[in-house]
Amino acid sequence: MEIDTKKLKAFLKQRLSEKRYIHSLNVALECVKLAEAYGEDTKKAYFAGLMHDVCKELSFDEQHKLLENSQFKIDDIERASKPLWHAIAGAVYVRDELGVTDSEILNAIRFHTTGRAGMSRFEEIVYLADLISIDRDYKDLGKMRRLAYSDISEAMREAIAYSIHSVIKKNVYLPRHTVEAYNSYLYAMGK
Ligand SMILES: [Fe+2]
Ligand SMILES: [Fe+2]
Repeated sequence: MEIDTKKLKAFLKQRLSEKRYIHSLNVALECVKLAEAYGEDTKKAYFAGLMHDVCKELSFDEQHKLLENSQFKIDDIERASKPLWHAIAGAVYVRDELGVTDSEILNAIRFHTTGRAGMSRFEEIVYLADLISIDRDYKDLGKMRRLAYSDISEAMREAIAYSIHSVIKKNVYLPRHTVEAYNSYLYAMGK
């Protein structure tokens, strides 16, 4: 795919806070590295990484409007979990405003917070790049970075497990897609 990187960056820069803009650039760069490591399309990966949080700083009202026009299947728990909305809204935005039709890009953005059962390698790359980008800082980051490049399925299982733990600690809804993702990684590992 051909993308005008300069234009996209300028667009994001005026749309996002400095911190989120830098995070988006870092995720895009990590996406490219992972795409290179796993033989995926680096240009597509750069675009998805750059745009994954494009709607994160819209008001919940604006995010909700995008959800309503999405034609995506959105379940009751997703509807009740506002922090999940920006991912769905982001996919709708790039589809409807930027004319992106590539389903891998749309799914990678739509599921970058929850994961899902049966993620493509491309979706996994975007999910993990968001978690291990250079601006991140948490206890097991080093381990997660190593795993992402050595065993991406195990990295995903670990990342989804981490997400489930943190959701439970925060006492907020556990998205169905996250549970299904966890089970699907275990199942694929023959556990
Ligand atoms: Fe996000
Ligand atoms: Fe992000």
